[in-house]
Amino acid sequence: MTRAEPSLPSLLISIPEGVIDLGWGHPSPHLHPVDILRRAAEIALADGAPVPLQYGAAQGYGPLLHSLAEFLSAQESYTTPISPSELFLTAGASQAIDHATTLFTRTGDTVFVEEPTYYLIQSIFEDHGLNVVGVPTDKDGLRMDALEVMLESPDVPCPRMLYIIPTYQNPSGSVLPSDRRRKLVELAQQHGFLVLADEVYNLLHYGDPPPPPIASFDVSGEGCVISLGSFSKMLAPGLRIGWLQARAPIVRRFANAGLTISGGGLNHFTSTLVHAVLERGMLQDNIAHLRRTYAERVSAMTAALRRHLDDVIEFTAPGGGYFFWLTFTDGTNTDDLLPIAQEHGVNYRPGAAFSASGEFTGAIRLAFALYEPDMLAEGVRRLAAAHREFRGYM
Ligand SMILES: Cc1ncc(COP(=O)(O)O)c(C=O)c1O
Repeated sequence: MTRAEPSLPSLLISIPEGVIDLGWGHPSPHLHPVDILRRAAEIALADGAPVPLQYGAAQGYGPLLHSLAEFLSAQESYTTPISPSELFLTAGASQAIDHATTLFTRTGDTVFVEEPTYYLIQSIFEDHGLNVVGVPTDKDGLRMDALEVMLESPDVPCPRMLYIIPTYQNPSGSVLPSDRRRKLVELAQQHGFLVLADEVYNLLHYGDPPPPPIASFDVSGEGCVISLGSFSKMLAPGLRIGWLQARAPIVRRFANAGLTISGGGLNHFTSTLVHAVLERGMLQDNIAHLRRTYAERVSAMTAALRRHLDDVIEFTAPGGGYFFWLTFTDGTNTDDLLPIAQEHGVNYRPGAAFSASGEFTGAIRLAFALYEPDMLAEGVRRLAAAHREFRGYM
């Protein structure tokens, strides 16, 4: 007889009935490209599947390296052609960050991050015993003047790596301009640190395209930049596939790592599907659909924020990515506001979660990828009601 056990979850998150959870940067289920992937699976498995089901090539499935290089080279935000020798296929940006950290750092090393930064990065760096130090940002992202001062300071340990989200930053939505990207590469070359650029939102722009990935500015020697891309945001996160762009010696380091020598290319089967998606032009179609859909959501959320919270917040509507970053101007502490918001049936991510040093207590991040415009508006309405109630206590 087997003992009844509680059922185990199928998904990373579950949202209670009736709650509008604006805290998670996950796409809405109806945006998952089911038909595209069904066709891709049929194409990939059509000839009895001798290739998709075997161990894959260490750098990644060759045909996808070629089709991806061609696809990226054709994008407006890539101003120079990308060669397949500059690409390595990963199992998503999270896995790539962990792998890069394994290959390029040792326990006790220092890694610089932006203040604020992606809140889940801290635990990856903690897994590796790294010392995480925040670098100030402004509306255009990482401040080069502040970085230079820190690099020259005898009181700040030299970084082995700098982790940055240069495009539609998570959480702030900022975009690092080209001159800062160029300067960052110069500083990395001068001071001998690696730039790990998490660029998963690059192709999700809702207006003008952003500058090229930082790896495109790294044009000499062994290389000092790794730019990460992901199919999580352009197709579906459950696929667990992405890529990195770097100079060939860095790519070889990944391809010759113990992980790939033992298990072959990461996510080889999925790579054969994604190649079929690219070959049939279905990726570009899906991205165009996502851009239209998310642009509508940005407009809906902007309108709702102006309507319900305009007198107490500052924000800039994002030009791409998944997030709004709001700052309350009336002294609201967003950790304290959260339980009241939850009572009103809305959830968000408080600003302090994005800081290595507990800053941004007056900020919140709202994700707009999971809900339709009407639900986003309702979520903001509930947030404003919670804020009004909270002000009564302040
Ligand atoms: C900045 C950033 N990096 C990485 C990830 C995770 O990417 P992946 O699904 O490719 O692991 C996310 C997802 O929210 C993200 O916002």
